[in-house]
Amino acid sequence: EEGAPLVLVSNRGPVTFQEGGEVKRGGGGLVTALTGLASHRDAIWIASAMTEQDIAVTEEHGGRPFVAELPDGGSYKVRLVASDPGAYDRFYNVFANPMLWFIQHYLWDLSNAPDIRREEVEAFEFGYNVVNEDLARAVLEEIEGQSEPVVMVHDYHLYTLPGLIRRERPDVFLHHFVHIPWTQPDAWRVLPTKIRTEIYEGLLANDIVGFHTRSYRRNFLQCCRDLMDLEVDFERGVVHCPDGHEVWVRAYPLPIDAEQTRAVAKRPRTAEFEGELLRRRREHLILRVDRADLSKNVLRGFTAFDVFLEQHPEFRERVTFVAQLMPSRTDVPEYAEYLERIEAVVAVVNHRHGTPDWMPIHLKLRDDLEEAVAAYKNYDLLLVNAMFDGMNLVAKEGPLVNERAGVSILSENTGAHEELGEFALSVNPFDIQELADSIHAALTMPREERERRLDGLKRIVTQRNPGDWIDDQLADIRKKERANDG
Ligand code: G6P
Repeated sequence: EEGAPLVLVSNRGPVTFQEGGEVKRGGGGLVTALTGLASHRDAIWIASAMTEQDIAVTEEHGGRPFVAELPDGGSYKVRLVASDPGAYDRFYNVFANPMLWFIQHYLWDLSNAPDIRREEVEAFEFGYNVVNEDLARAVLEEIEGQSEPVVMVHDYHLYTLPGLIRRERPDVFLHHFVHIPWTQPDAWRVLPTKIRTEIYEGLLANDIVGFHTRSYRRNFLQCCRDLMDLEVDFERGVVHCPDGHEVWVRAYPLPIDAEQTRAVAKRPRTAEFEGELLRRRREHLILRVDRADLSKNVLRGFTAFDVFLEQHPEFRERVTFVAQLMPSRTDVPEYAEYLERIEAVVAVVNHRHGTPDWMPIHLKLRDDLEEAVAAYKNYDLLLVNAMFDGMNLVAKEGPLVNERAGVSILSENTGAHEELGEFALSVNPFDIQELADSIHAALTMPREERERRLDGLKRIVTQRNPGDWIDDQLADIRKKERANDG
């Protein structure tokens, strides 16, 4: 099997084509995690054609693999798969986001997620499963003729794909990494039993299922026991399937690519943004960088800032809150509405506290890596208050390049908290008063303590890199292959 390329499959791929033919890097943590891997090893990355331009490019290549180059470096062998647009819409906008995403962030009720009616059930059957089948077919074609190939499947969009592949090719080694939280059994009871069962059966066709944290690993094992009535071994992280097949369940916390982020920090375009930021900054800079996603808890962050300014008026005109939010999944009504609510709250807080020459919150609704990294270098306080978050890479990238002894406020419910909690100010993301108090504590913290904390964070985030992350998984794959054979 040496020599055969590694097959990666995910919904979002490394590149997306824009109007006018411009190529952009895909956003979000999954792409960040896999780009290093795909450019350093011989890999083929199979993903969905998500935009109209993606579909046009896919057709140009006759659905075959091609090499995509990004303007800022990096080239990837990709194969895009264009599903029927109606099926894709049901898959992405009705089932995967919001339903699965909300269930896996405990947001079902908080977000007023849709009721489950015929439309939602059909979105699974005629949307989710169709896209999984389309991608599975592409995978099967790519591994044809190879013996015992390894396929790495990514995230919540593709839970039923492993089962489809296993059926055709019992010899494939299937490794599935889930980039988002795994919730406790009761959260899953929202889904109709039939759909839930199909999802778990799909996942249990894998050899290994990986998560960012030990707690998601434990939750998954618990779900297999309670919802699927299977025998599980919590200590060894094994699910025993009735046919004798074993699934290994593992935690592989994702590291950041420090080299890559440092390189972005040195780009001239980053320096331009820094210059602008420095001209406009006040004594203290609070920063948040997120996709505009309900799970990120943006509204409570602004409310806490409002409370902070109310309770500590001496900070008025001395602090600016820069919020760089990348609009995301805007065809899902809950997301579009969330963006509107964000803008409304910002307007209220700015109106309440602002003065003719001071605007408390700068809202930047865009995805710009250099602009974000410029702000990482210069924050005094980095706010990561997600309600729940699989890992959260901002919590790692910010401290890596920060040059102002900046303090991190970090939600206890992020995957990153398992590693970074000791050196951050931990908050319960639902407790607005605690968050307001933490903002005050951070902005008044003695320099020495701020440095001690930042040094601790820098140390942790540079200990491992994405190459190590993949090596750990490949090592387990080898081990499991031997166990399967023996
Ligand atoms: C999270 C998910 C990824 C997803 C990313 C961006 O990080 O784990 O699977 O790609 O968000 O979301 P999008 O819907 O734009 O792909």
